[in-house]
Amino acid sequence: MDLVLREGAFLGETHIVTGAAQGIGFAIAQALALHGAQVAMVDLDRGRLDEAKARLQQSVPKAAVAPLVVAANVASEQDVPRAVSEILEATGCINGLVNVAGITRDARITKKTLADFNLVLSVHLGGTFLFTREVAVQHWHPLFKAKGDQPLDDGVNRFIVNFSSVSARNGNIGQVDYTAAKGAIEAVTRTTAREFSNYRVRVNAIAPGPVNTPMLAAAGEQAVQAFKRATLLGKVAEPEDIAATVLGMACPKISGYTTGQIFAANGGLYLA
Ligand SMILES: NC(=O)c1ccc[n+]([C@@H]2O[C@H](COP(=O)([O-])OP(=O)(O)OC[C@H]3O[C@@H](n4cnc5c(N)ncnc54)[C@H](O)[C@@H]3O)[C@@H](O)[C@H]2O)c1
Repeated sequence: MDLVLREGAFLGETHIVTGAAQGIGFAIAQALALHGAQVAMVDLDRGRLDEAKARLQQSVPKAAVAPLVVAANVASEQDVPRAVSEILEATGCINGLVNVAGITRDARITKKTLADFNLVLSVHLGGTFLFTREVAVQHWHPLFKAKGDQPLDDGVNRFIVNFSSVSARNGNIGQVDYTAAKGAIEAVTRTTAREFSNYRVRVNAIAPGPVNTPMLAAAGEQAVQAFKRATLLGKVAEPEDIAATVLGMACPKISGYTTGQIFAANGGLYLA
């Protein structure tokens, strides 16, 4: 990936990216590191994280700071507080949180088990909630208290980017759980933006269309071709395309006056 913003745009900042071992999460970690951030890569498995870190360091040899890797299940109320405190101990500051981790368990409603329905919700929605809560509880809220409950107008970049999907608005057969989680994440984004306004955290979500990752490949080639035809741009996105949009959402020079918004990056698949 080439520079999208100026070199060192995020120098001195720490950004957490969940689901960073592959797909869109990896591309975002790579893009943030390329622009100078120290990234904390979170995913389920330590081995896959170590491989992802090695790939990232190969592709960004001049990264200002080595990425941290933290194995954690985003849906676990034990793992997430531990992960956030590990990251804070290592870095002393968290500027950005990108909640990417996700799974699918596609099946039509008549075939969907409650266990799968709850699992999908717990990873997307529960994971987004838990990481948001823990970064605030352990870091942003104490900063606010230390300033005597005054808004954190200190010029420090603070942001959250949540992951929705075009299918939250459009619906998608087989994904009652996934679309429910994504719709809820859009609502969570708006409420978090309101609750965190005094921390001066910009809270937005991105709603991608089809992106070329293992998650999309699992839907099958026929579905991929149908998605391509349904977009106005005639293609699925690459993870780097979505990462570039997230860079803009993370950058206060570009999105400094934007909070509580859902950003559509869907190739024209759905026009709001
Ligand atoms: N690929 C698409 O077409 C597409 C479209 C719209 C939205 N999205 C969203 O983008 C995000 C990333 O999707 P992707 O295509 O890169 O998926 P992916 O399956 O390629 O990668 C997801 C990553 O999340 C990790 N993960 C899963 N469960 C986890 C958990 N409980 N704790 C920690 N990590 C966990 C996986 O190990 C994996 O590394 C997801 O939220 C997805 O819903 C994807």
